[in-house]
Amino acid sequence: IAKASLLSVLAGTAYVSYELYRESNPSAQKPQGAVFSDGSPRKTLVILGTGWGSISLLKNLDTTLYNVIVVSPRNYFLFTPLLPSTPVGTIELKSIVEPVRSITRRTPGEVVYYEAEALDVDPRTKTVKIKSVESGEHAYEMDLNYDYLVVGVGAQPTTFGIPGVFEHASFLKEIPDAQDIRTKIMNNIERAATLSPNDPERKRLLSFVVVGGGPTGVEFAAELRDYVDQDLSKWMPELSKEIKVVLCEALPNILNMFDKSLWKYAQDLLKEEKIDLRINTMVKSVDATQITTKCNDKLEELPYGVLVWATGNAPRDVSNSLMNKLEEQNSRRGLLINNKLQLLGAEDSIFAIGDCTFYPGLFPTAQVAHQEGEYLAHVFKKQHKIDQLSWQIQNVRDSSEIARLQTKKDKLNAQIKQFEYQHQGALAYIGSEKAIADLAIGESKYRLAGSWTFWFWKSSYLVMCLTFRNRVLVALDWLKVSVLGRDSSV
Ligand code: FAD
Ligand code: NAI
Repeated sequence: IAKASLLSVLAGTAYVSYELYRESNPSAQKPQGAVFSDGSPRKTLVILGTGWGSISLLKNLDTTLYNVIVVSPRNYFLFTPLLPSTPVGTIELKSIVEPVRSITRRTPGEVVYYEAEALDVDPRTKTVKIKSVESGEHAYEMDLNYDYLVVGVGAQPTTFGIPGVFEHASFLKEIPDAQDIRTKIMNNIERAATLSPNDPERKRLLSFVVVGGGPTGVEFAAELRDYVDQDLSKWMPELSKEIKVVLCEALPNILNMFDKSLWKYAQDLLKEEKIDLRINTMVKSVDATQITTKCNDKLEELPYGVLVWATGNAPRDVSNSLMNKLEEQNSRRGLLINNKLQLLGAEDSIFAIGDCTFYPGLFPTAQVAHQEGEYLAHVFKKQHKIDQLSWQIQNVRDSSEIARLQTKKDKLNAQIKQFEYQHQGALAYIGSEKAIADLAIGESKYRLAGSWTFWFWKSSYLVMCLTFRNRVLVALDWLKVSVLGRDSSV
């Protein structure tokens, strides 16, 4: 036993040291040139976005084969599954981000990164217009030429055009959103504490409303309730009892992507946790202090202090503008792609992945975007060989040699298989240290719920974290909260 323990400690130490070394040391990257040593041109691959799809592509891509340019207004990758834990401080924001630079310096070939937003894509001239994030005298706008373009710009929160949402609600999609929600919650608590218990303004300030019973809304409402019951109750016992968490969902049930047994379990638990769950309740309008809901043809006004809006996705402006340029793009739900992730109307040069796309059966999840990115990395490896053969064909005169190269090229083209999504299941945190899991392993389905599933949820997310550094920070955050509780400052 002593020998085995010693060996496992040594193995663990070696693994941690290796990971730490690998993550803190940039790789020696080969400088990129316009041509390869045989004189063939190195094609330019422009990747838009640094989210799940684009980063998965980048991590798996042989970057020595292309001039790789990444354009994104966000110079980090964000691990979204743990974002709902951040506004209340269960997880620190820094623990779930990874700088783009640390990712691009671990690729085998050089990668150029622009902290900029793509404004417009012209599929005819194969150019992308980009604009720097920085404004003022260092701001720039420029056109980038591409041979291949991967659009992975994600989506923006949808409001369905409901009046007042943009002006008054907070979303939960990016880091600044989480910071905004935290500030509002903490400020409201402090302001309410200065008012007398029977002041209606105090009641309003302490009413936290979440709209949308999808996983984002449910996970955030659950985290908020945990914070109030587990931490705020210790420091402000009276006030914490007055806090109301309301969750509005337009459909007859929440968490539609899960099996009925699981969403029923979740609904029962949310009610037990004293979350005011209002199903069949559609929010019709929003103003600065109240929302108007409609339930069974009955309109009701509900005052709120903080409003979090999580009703799903809508295409970004750059995706809309690309759709408007191509006749084949006739859906308003996202960029239409074929089964090889090629953009309809620009199949030879543009690919689109993740939340910015619409393809039946593929949902806007990290799991889909991640697998699409991996798939494209393999496609680009093959595509490079195909392009090399095309160049050779152009440069030889002998017709039998041309025929031989053409056969080789056709074979390679046929080897590019269509993208096949492997659904591994869905997980969601539902509060009070309980989670649900709808798992798919091969043909079998497994449905789990409860406290053990919470540990499974935690371990799965630790494994899924992008880097070892993220894994350590997230694990330490969980440990810190279980020992010291959450922090209540802004
Ligand atoms: P994103 O990850 O959103 O990345 C888009 C990138 O494009 C960003 O870097 C952005 O800055 C950049 N960008 C935006 N505009 C431009 C532009 N004009 N030009 C260039 N770049 C641009 N899915 C799961 O499977 N499991 C989960 O547990 C889960 N939890 C989630 C929790 C929350 C709170 C949220 C909001 C989503 C969650 N999702 C989850 C969904 C998942 O995050 C998305 O499906 C996934 O992020 C999609 O990846 P993407 O690469 O398409 O887009
Ligand atoms: P969603 O699209 O999954 O859910 C939005 C919900 O809002 C729907 O149930 C809809 O009926 C409701 N809604 C719409 N308009 C409304 C209104 N006016 N009033 C009341 N309710 C209204 O959106 P969400 O949660 O933002 O997720 C986006 C994507 O990210 C989804 O594909 C989801 O699967 C994925 N995701 C996955 C997670 C996980 O697997 N744990 C966590 C978070 C997101």
